[in-house]
Amino acid sequence: MSDGAAMGIGQIDYDGLIPNNVGLAEDQRVRKALETWHPGYIDWWKSMGPEGFQGSSVYLRTAVGVGAEGWAKFGFVRMPEYRWGILLAPKVEGRTIPFGAHKGQPAWQDVPGEYRAMLRRLLVIQGDTEPASVEQQRHLGATAPSLYDMRNLFQVNVEEGRHLWAMVYLLQKYFGRDGREEAEELLRRRSGDQDSPRMLGAFNERTPDWLSFFMFTFFTDRDGKMQLAALAQSGFDPLSRTCRFMLTEEAHHMFVGETGVARVIQRTAEAMNEAGIDDPYDIERIRRLGVIDLPTIQKKANLHFSLTLDLFGNEISTNAANAFNAGLKGRYREDKLTDDHQLTASTYPVLRLRDGAIIKDEVPALSALNMRLRDDYVEDTMLGIGRWNRVLERAGIDFRMTLPHVAFNRRIGEFSAVHTDTAGAVLSAEAWIRQQMAMLPSDDDNQFIASLMQPSWQPGRYAGWIAPPRHGIDNMPGDFEYVRIEN
Ligand SMILES: [Fe+2]
Ligand SMILES: [Fe+2]
Repeated sequence: MSDGAAMGIGQIDYDGLIPNNVGLAEDQRVRKALETWHPGYIDWWKSMGPEGFQGSSVYLRTAVGVGAEGWAKFGFVRMPEYRWGILLAPKVEGRTIPFGAHKGQPAWQDVPGEYRAMLRRLLVIQGDTEPASVEQQRHLGATAPSLYDMRNLFQVNVEEGRHLWAMVYLLQKYFGRDGREEAEELLRRRSGDQDSPRMLGAFNERTPDWLSFFMFTFFTDRDGKMQLAALAQSGFDPLSRTCRFMLTEEAHHMFVGETGVARVIQRTAEAMNEAGIDDPYDIERIRRLGVIDLPTIQKKANLHFSLTLDLFGNEISTNAANAFNAGLKGRYREDKLTDDHQLTASTYPVLRLRDGAIIKDEVPALSALNMRLRDDYVEDTMLGIGRWNRVLERAGIDFRMTLPHVAFNRRIGEFSAVHTDTAGAVLSAEAWIRQQMAMLPSDDDNQFIASLMQPSWQPGRYAGWIAPPRHGIDNMPGDFEYVRIEN
């Protein structure tokens, strides 16, 4: 650890088995629970974490502080030796519950008895997504398009591991025996398993190739960001502090996704220009250049966007209303909103299905909180799409990435009852079957992408379907060896 980083860390205990700023050294009961859980976690990491690279040294950042500056240090680490710590953002003195029925009362430092079950459920659902994505991505190292990308994948993976620790800490600290059992279950479920799957649909899907990985981190990690942002508002102060710190790490995951897709788009645009191809739909010719055609990239985006929307749950939700009323889960940037923060008298517009048609309905705002968060998510996503399109603009390519309609390809909520096209026009079953291949990746598309997934592990080299990044990680030079591969 550099001295600069050490100075900023103040109260962080970095000496024990589990780095932390929650006073584990004095908290025998929780320390013991975590130390008992630790070997199972390491077993899980070794068997379900990045396959084939457990012995490699990876240039990773490790959280060593929680201040805005200098919270991370970079260095070579073997992943099983990564220091997964428990880090909460600093306590805000005098913080009050920002919303719901208890608005204005002092924030809870302990679990309010009446909301115990609801809070536990929120922690478990959030916690379950963290190891799930590590499991989904475990085969990707073998086909990494560069050492830079491989390192980014592993960085995301170890941080998802740390996010699991964050939730397990809260469970073990505040939920006693129930919490310990839930912590064990979090290590037992497996993404995509028939008998014991992860809890949410998108986290049981496959991540078979690197374009899927970039789309996943762009779209699905962004759902994580929205959920964490809503939980960071929680009146249960330890959860708020935990999520606030997790959000600092989450930003990197979205960077990996957004710039990853942007680099794929850039490479395709460059190859098209070099070959003098104007028509983005001249797919066969473009594919022969060894790059991914833009319509296929769009189809991947359609798929990952629609899978991710399902994570926001039902349009009308009493669970969401209850969690808000209870002061446990707020809205995105609740603290920046200027209404009454109780929403008992307001409404919110929601798209719904009525007699087979999509209509806008004003519903009580409390029951529409899932949709409000989803709308904030879509808005946030659009900013990234805009940046992808600037790559195409600069390259002079006549194609723009878009988001499909929210009703497209849904399995949860009102729209799971219908098929629509990407513009939201309702389709008959036959029309859906006919048009599906133009809107979602086909077997043929997936096979083509898979054919490009050849490892490129020379320092400074990149696979032909992706452009190099503009900057190195931690300002490292272009030929830096981010991963020293050893099995
Ligand atoms: Fe996470
Ligand atoms: Fe993440």
